[in-house]
Amino acid sequence: MGIFRKKKNATAGRLDPEKLPRHIAIIMDGNGRWAQKRGLPRTAGHAAGAETFRTIATYCRDIGIQYLSVYAFSTENWKRPADEVAAIMGLLERFLREALETMEKDRVKVRFFGDVSVLSDRMQELIAETAEISSHYDGVQVNMCVNYGGRDEILRAARSYARDYAADGRALDDKTFERYLYSAGVPDPDLIIRPSGEQRLSNFLLWQAAYAELYFTDVYWPDFTTQELDRAIIAFQHRKRRFGGV
Ligand code: IPE
Ligand code: IPE
Ligand code: MG
Repeated sequence: MGIFRKKKNATAGRLDPEKLPRHIAIIMDGNGRWAQKRGLPRTAGHAAGAETFRTIATYCRDIGIQYLSVYAFSTENWKRPADEVAAIMGLLERFLREALETMEKDRVKVRFFGDVSVLSDRMQELIAETAEISSHYDGVQVNMCVNYGGRDEILRAARSYARDYAADGRALDDKTFERYLYSAGVPDPDLIIRPSGEQRLSNFLLWQAAYAELYFTDVYWPDFTTQELDRAIIAFQHRKRRFGGV
């Protein structure tokens, strides 16, 4: 019977509440395929994905995750049909309005990573308002990545640094450089999750991902559940992080 002994499953077991990742980042992918599979328009997938985001953000707050970064719209996603882009922006606006109404109660802090200056004036006002309220307390922090691209972020940081260097000549080290990134002040993600079966970063948190543990699952984002998140966290808790050491 011994040869049939079960292989130890890296995702089995229980979640250890003492060893939670401090920062989880998620590439919310697979909305379109989820919808297509059901004969629905892609935009229905985005609406379903927005619901999943609500569930997962609430769950992260409840179990004590400190930072949750979510990739909602990339610098490359402008290539999509205008009606799809408009639908995604509409969902983001709704998220902001809801966040503003419930923030004090939910204690979910919201920050935006990405160039939001190209978004509508209305969106920019909502983002500014959300940032203002968020600055008043310390809850779980959601980093909403919109018009975000890792390369764009690094280039912007390099340009800003170069401007400051011309003024004060401060030497560049990684800690100094990080202050110019959208993620300034936020610890690097410990765990990056990508659903939908794709195994790539698609320009997400390129600098910050240096030592992140990567977790991939075939589930489409709208089907992603709190149990799926538990599985990802348990897998993370089985990883041996070395950061280049022994
Ligand atoms: C992710 O889902 C949401 C965004 C990129 C805005 P997709 O829309 O990429 O879904 P798929 O990959 O086409 O299934
Ligand atoms: C990454 O997904 C961006 C977001 C989830 C917002 P994409 O669907 O745009 O990535 P690719 O094109 O498959 O690499
Ligand atoms: Mg996709």
